[in-house]
Amino acid sequence: MKALVLSGGKGTRLRPLTHTMPKQLVPVANQPILAYVFRHIQDAGIKDVGVVVSPETQKDVRRFLGKGSRWRARITYILQQEPLGLAHAVKTARPFLGKSSFVMYLGDNLLAQGIKEFMEAFHSEDLDALIFLKEVENPRAFGVAVLNKKGRVTKLVEKPKTPPSNLALVGVYFFSPAIHEAIDRIKPSARGELEITDAIQELMRLGKSVRGRILEDWWLDTGKKDDFLAANTIVLDNYTKRDIQGKVDRKSSVTGRVQIDKTAKIVNSRLRGPIVIGKKCEIVNSFIGPHTTIGHGTRIIDSAIEHSVILDNCYIENIARLEDSLIGREARVVDPKNHSRALRLLIGDNNVVEV
Ligand code: DAU
Repeated sequence: MKALVLSGGKGTRLRPLTHTMPKQLVPVANQPILAYVFRHIQDAGIKDVGVVVSPETQKDVRRFLGKGSRWRARITYILQQEPLGLAHAVKTARPFLGKSSFVMYLGDNLLAQGIKEFMEAFHSEDLDALIFLKEVENPRAFGVAVLNKKGRVTKLVEKPKTPPSNLALVGVYFFSPAIHEAIDRIKPSARGELEITDAIQELMRLGKSVRGRILEDWWLDTGKKDDFLAANTIVLDNYTKRDIQGKVDRKSSVTGRVQIDKTAKIVNSRLRGPIVIGKKCEIVNSFIGPHTTIGHGTRIIDSAIEHSVILDNCYIENIARLEDSLIGREARVVDPKNHSRALRLLIGDNNVVEV
């Protein structure tokens, strides 16, 4: 069993926060989305991983993943010159995939649960494709599936104008090598892409065994949902464990599931989890409330912050109350006059804001 992680594409940036990084590397709770993907692949015991990259994404993706040893994996990078569709990515990866079954994991998808149990089901039921579905409010933005009364998939359509159901295709797919034959038989869609959705539909037409399972847990397509706060809140709720490694002085208190990196410093402050505090952070005379992520190298002085994402190397001082906010990297937010009102801010990378 191999894994194929799709981390190519146009490298569309999720503005205004991440105009300097591909969407697969956007940090959620201080970890790039690809880190969660690789954790799931490692938990499933898969070691041979192909990563599809594009000319735009390859440098950053390679820098983060390296050879894959952090996840006990061997990574083979596969350059897809143009983003001609998910099925085109599989076609490009064919020399790597050979005759293996594989799990294809879209690099901008975040799942609550791992994939180990699904992999076991795929093998034990001897399937050609196992796909996952989840009810969504905006099915037009996804591949959409129709199930019959027995719960079998009968039809799949990519981004339909009039969705036949509200069951979206999740970006994790298990395939046997039969998928290659199906891909060879399909033509590009109206948007000019070779769609994996069409290839799965073709598999069904060829009489292969295709099963759909409805996901019980949450799932986020972060490429679509540039709602960092929602992703951050969900991930903090589900993944954060209490782990206090940094220096916390006697005047500070830390309650609940709070993760503090060993190089961070907390001075005379109150922290209430779930919170993640990154490397070399300094929190001084401040309150950090639930569902907040503080990026690496960020300093917070004389401020109160709750339900917010502060990315790397920011400086925040004298802010009486900051909530529901997203602060981009290297931003500076200060309130020299100490206005005592609650602020909700959305600030891009490298901005300076005086309130
Ligand atoms: O997230 C689930 C959805 O993913 C499914 O419901 C859809 O059926 C499926 O087509 C896909 O739709 P998206 O519009 O979200 O796909 P996107 O273009 O964002 O690409 C998904 C990932 O794959 C992203 O990390 C970039 C990468 N990619 C994409 C294309 C088109 C490649 O590596 N190569 C490509 O050619």
